[in-house]
Parts: sequence; C-alpha cells; structure tokens
Amino acid sequence: MKILIIGSGGREHSLVWAFLQNPKCKEIHCIPGNAGIEKIAICKDLNILNNREIVSYCKSNKIDFVIVGPEAPLANGLIDILIQNKILCFGPTKEAALLESSKSFTKSICDKRNIPTANYVIANSKKEALGFIEKFKPPFVIKLDGLAAGKGVFISKNKSEAIKSINDIYEIRNNHNTILIEEFLKGIEASLFIISNGNKYKSLGSAQDYKKIYKKDLGPNTGGMGAFSPSLNISPEMEKDILKRIVSPTLKEMDERGTPFCGILYIGLMITDEGPKLIEYNVRLGDPECQVIAIRLGAQLLDAFIYCAMNEFNKIKINYANDFGVTVVMASGGYPNKYKTGFKIKGIKDLSDKKDVEIFHSGTKNSKNSIVTSGGRVLSVTARSTKLKKARKKAYEIVRKLKWKKEYHRSDIAKKL
Ligand code: AMP
Ligand code: GLY
Repeated sequence: MKILIIGSGGREHSLVWAFLQNPKCKEIHCIPGNAGIEKIAICKDLNILNNREIVSYCKSNKIDFVIVGPEAPLANGLIDILIQNKILCFGPTKEAALLESSKSFTKSICDKRNIPTANYVIANSKKEALGFIEKFKPPFVIKLDGLAAGKGVFISKNKSEAIKSINDIYEIRNNHNTILIEEFLKGIEASLFIISNGNKYKSLGSAQDYKKIYKKDLGPNTGGMGAFSPSLNISPEMEKDILKRIVSPTLKEMDERGTPFCGILYIGLMITDEGPKLIEYNVRLGDPECQVIAIRLGAQLLDAFIYCAMNEFNKIKINYANDFGVTVVMASGGYPNKYKTGFKIKGIKDLSDKKDVEIFHSGTKNSKNSIVTSGGRVLSVTARSTKLKKARKKAYEIVRKLKWKKEYHRSDIAKKL
C-alpha cells in the first residue's frame, strides 16, 4: 500500500516509523513532515487545512490509505472529503470530531447517557461567566469550548484569578464566546485509547502524560512534556468499568445520532475517590502519548488502522509484550510561551543505531546540512524495556547526549511513581 500520514509532530514520526515495519506498507508519504520524517518518508509541504490540495495529492500520487494525526484537519472535515472521493482513510468525520472540537457537545453526550464527568455550566458571554464565579466556590476550572492546542483550560485558585482569566479570554480571544466552568476534580489523571469503527471498539492501551512544563507538575500546561505506557493507575477491572460506563455509551449515542465515531478515541480521565470520570475526549492519538504506544506496538498499529477502515474490525489484534514505553520531550527554552528557533541540534547524527530507543522529531528542519530547531517541542526521545525504570534510564541516556542552545526538558518523567 501507498500510505499518507498528515501531520508534522513526534506522533506522526512514530507512526511512520511503526508503519515501515509492516510489510503492507510499500511506500510512505507525509504532509508536511519534519526533518526526522524526511529521512524515512516522502514529504510534501502542503497546508494540512487545505482539503482540496490534499485530495489532489492523493490522486496524483495514487495513495491507497490516509491517516490523519492532528485534530485540526479532522475538525476541518478532511475525512469527509476523502470519503467523498473514495479514498480509504482512518479518522473521524467532522461531526464525530466534535467530541474534541466542542467541549459543550461532549458534555451534552455525557448528560444524555449519564456518563461520569465534572459538573459544569455553560456561559455565553463575559457577564454570564462572571455571574457564575460569584455563585461558585474555588478552585475554578474555566475552559474554552473550541480547539485550543492544549492551552484552553485555566484553573484558578481564587475568585480574583478566575475573574482575570475570564477577562483575558473575552478580550484576547473574541472568537471564543462560549466557555465552560467546571467542578474541580481531585484525583490522578490517566489516558486510555480505544479504536472504533462506530459500533465495535477495542482498547489500544493506556498512558500517563505530563502536561505541565516544570518538574513536580508546576507551571503552565503544554502540549505534553513526556509520557509513559501503560498507565499504572488503570487496573484491568477499572479499564472494564471505563469502557462500560464512559466509552460504550458515548459510541452508542454517536451512532444513534447518525454520526458514528470511527478512529482513535483518547479518553482523558481523572481517577477520583468516586471512580474514573471523563475530563475530555480527543479524537486522535496524543502527542507524545502516541510515541510510547507506537514503540510498544510497532507494525500492529498499521494493521489495526487498515482493518478498522476496511470494516474488517474482527481481524484487529492488539498484542502487547509485557513491557513499558517512556518518552521525554526536549523543547525550546521558553516554550509554551515565547521561544527562539533555528538552533543547531548537536549529537543527533551519532545516535541512529541504538536498540529500543528512538528519537522522534517534532519542531525540526534541515538547514545547511544540519538539523535545526523550528518549534516549541523539538524531539521526543522514546525507549522501551521490560522494566519502566530501565526504559526511563535508556531515554535519559540519549537525552543527555543531545544538545542545543536553550534546550529544556523535564527531569522527572516516569520517576518515583
Ligand atoms: P483538558 O484540555 O480538558 O484535558 O484539560 C487540560 C488539563 O486541565 C487536564 O489534563 C487536567 O489536568 C486539568 N483539568 C481539566 N478539567 C479539570 C477538572 N474538571 N478538574 C481538575 N482538573 C482539570
Ligand atoms: N498530549 C496531549 C494531546 O495530544 O492532546
């Protein structure tokens, strides 16, 4: 098969790497890719939100199968257009992607099917939002309704912080008029991934991610600074409970609405004293969570995606070895706020042949025969081993050998659990 992956992150690099291990993959393309992906796939720099250009690329290159990595093209209806053009693809339609692109939509599904999640109210104006703050108790969880690249949640310890967040939201982001104010959930976070063709589903495994920029979970949220898989907080019984009380009713409701969910559902959970509760859905694999799943599942991922897209769901087999994956994100100093790019990455060329460790690229590009930084998150060093501790050690050994000006990473990924 000639396969096309849409995206440019560590997630997409790890998917390309995993697919290349599968004999079904005869040729692999990526739009737009990055300096790491360019080494192993045919990359084309097109706008991933230009559906027409992507369809014409598929036709002129005789692409057999398309996988969409990030949320924005899914919310932009790329899958719908590929289906209209009879191009085999994997991912949810625009309507099904509302599970990520609209938090109020997801809450409406939870209300309808009694799915455990945080209590909430919806405010449609600044005045309404400020009114809710007067009525409720801190901490306040304030969320933008639409896509916000992991930066749409503001947690305020007191009233004055909450008022500031609301003022900022309505002044800076005047395209986001709807916000949600939620009950603060106490507990431990974990993520579960499932694959579904709309009515059947299968677990793809779990992961624990690190959202905050600084160690000990301090500082602002990022897209993710590291992860490991499987999560140690989801027992097999708890997974069954999550599938029964959260996943299954969601998929049923989507199917009954005539907008079945096909693709990967990422279930962001808070494990509370009252049991697991849904924090949010994403309609794709996470970045960097994908990297720790891909390093463990390898070639199996492509089979799962193909069988799901071809409606041969019963053929999907997910066999995990009894192992762990750890990924450490190396970022540009300053991320998730302002940062500089264009710095030469040193040490990367000497590290290509390490066993069970992969360096997946995100914000990198080629410049004058060197690889330079070009984004906030730059590399995700990903390792696997039969022991979590060993996987962690392997990943950090490589992290220490990679250097650029103002490089930053967390030193506590998968530490002291
Ligand atoms: P989300 O984008 O909805 O996943 O939220 C980003 C992060 O904010 C989550 O991973 C949690 O750490 C935190 N968060 C979101 N909603 C809540 C909540 N209701 N209670 C506590 N923390 C939350
Ligand atoms: N790492 C979180 C996400 O991909 O949404």
